[in-house]
Amino acid sequence: MAGQYSAKEPYLSNITENTLLNGPGTSKETRHFVFNLPKSGMEYKVGDALGVIAENPPHTVEQLLQVTGWDGNDLITGPSGEASLRDVLLTQVEIHRVNKKFIQSLADKITPLAGMVKARISKRVRIVVGESNEAEWQWNGDSGNWPEGYAPGSLSEDPSSIITNLVDDAEAMENYIWSRDYIDVIGEFGLNHEPEEFLSLCDKLKPRLYSIASSMDVHPGEVQLTVGIVRYDYHGRSRGGLCTVHMTDAVELNKTPIKVFMSPTKSFILPGDASKDIIMVGPGTGIAPFRAFLEQREFDGGEGRNWFFFGDQSEKTEFYYKEQIEAWLDNGTLYKFTTAWSRDQAEKIYVQNRMAENGEELWQWLDNGAYFYICGDKSRMAKDVHKTLIQIAQDHGGLSEIDATEFIEKTLMRVEKRYLRDVY
Ligand SMILES: Cc1cc2nc3c(=O)[nH]c(=O)nc-3n(C[C@H](O)[C@H](O)[C@H](O)COP(=O)(O)OP(=O)(O)OC[C@H]3O[C@@H](n4cnc5c(N)ncnc54)[C@H](O)[C@@H]3O)c2cc1C
Ligand SMILES: NC(=O)c1ccc[n+]([C@@H]2O[C@H](COP(=O)([O-])OP(=O)(O)OC[C@H]3O[C@@H](n4cnc5c(N)ncnc54)[C@H](OP(=O)(O)O)[C@@H]3O)[C@@H](O)[C@H]2O)c1
Repeated sequence: MAGQYSAKEPYLSNITENTLLNGPGTSKETRHFVFNLPKSGMEYKVGDALGVIAENPPHTVEQLLQVTGWDGNDLITGPSGEASLRDVLLTQVEIHRVNKKFIQSLADKITPLAGMVKARISKRVRIVVGESNEAEWQWNGDSGNWPEGYAPGSLSEDPSSIITNLVDDAEAMENYIWSRDYIDVIGEFGLNHEPEEFLSLCDKLKPRLYSIASSMDVHPGEVQLTVGIVRYDYHGRSRGGLCTVHMTDAVELNKTPIKVFMSPTKSFILPGDASKDIIMVGPGTGIAPFRAFLEQREFDGGEGRNWFFFGDQSEKTEFYYKEQIEAWLDNGTLYKFTTAWSRDQAEKIYVQNRMAENGEELWQWLDNGAYFYICGDKSRMAKDVHKTLIQIAQDHGGLSEIDATEFIEKTLMRVEKRYLRDVY
């Protein structure tokens, strides 16, 4: 199905639409993206995901070149081949978050402190004291031997003990790297790595996967996504997720090439028999594949009923694809649409609460052969929905806890393959 393009040989697409799905006053940024597809060689079915290969923001690359003093025009061999250092930093490695390997490498290098500190002071001196003082200075190991006018700023401790503590304390390391990139760390500790060594420590730039939110039968020549944009501010700079920020901020509509490929699914598929009922649970960006499923079920026709549990923070600001959903309710494509707006009242209401409230009917659907799908957050939502399903089998199927667990986890999931998940 996926055709001639792949992660190694991606298609150079364009984004033709980028629409904010949230209403005014929201704290979220969820976007609908439309990508164009080639005339042939790149087909998909509903349930598949699109792989997107992003690039680092040019301003981050320029800042990194500035703090390291490296020449971006130098030819260098990166993890995916030879290019200018600037291009390798843009396209081959992840530089938007510092990794543990790099901090560990500082620990190995910080013993000859003078070398590390020289680089550190060079940078600070440029800002605090002025170019002329720094070039000749070398630390002799004596605490009184700091250059005149040097203010260590945030580093009140010996840098080597800070690094050693990070390497020895897993939690401190996680906290430290969570909010920092290489520019922050090099600004704090300096650097005496050559570019090749630095590049070998960085993580290779990886594609990101997105559940496809459209049916190809309904939108020929296009693939559509529903994406939660990751943004945050730390240490005086705005930053965010590599791919979501790239798609939103760096890609010019109908112009900037963006590398994509198909990632087909074998398991997260619609029932082959269109007369089967389906239940879909997809809060937040988990709506994506279910919009595609509903488009496909409407296109294909068939007797099977569709029940969608959706939720997000507020009905006013997060009711994504509202008009399309209301049209599906009007024309019967959606038999039932059950919502959980988590922040529209004092207590939290989540999709699993709505499932429990509708437990009797949900059990009847399952008992009659309905398929059950979940998409979205793996760490919390999918686990809670799973537990609720087992509880419903006990409360409404009259099963013991052991039998209910066996029914959900073995019969439904593995034997009959009608409990299917796309969680991330
Ligand atoms: C099969 C599959 C389907 C998916 N489908 C979708 C989909 O339909 N829609 C969708 O939006 N996503 C989807 N995802 C997730 C998607 O692939 C990306 O992981 C997501 O978009 C983030 O990518 P990014 O490159 O922008 O962020 P990254 O650069 O990968 O950064 C994300 C990481 O940033 C960190 N982070 C987040 N917030 C903060 C913060 N405040 N401070 C510091 N660090 C932070 C976290 O460690 C997080 O894991 C899917 C994933 C999979 C595996
Ligand atoms: N594992 C991952 O990396 C991962 C997983 C999911 C999403 N994300 C990323 O996070 C960003 C936003 O995600 P999103 O828009 O999909 O929404 P989301 O953060 O998953 O939230 C959607 C809805 O789910 C609710 N929710 C929170 N905890 C829940 C639980 N235990 N059970 C059921 N519902 C729960 C939220 O309520 P409240 O917020 O009011 O509590 C909200 O109403 C995106 O960038 C996405 O890619 C990452």
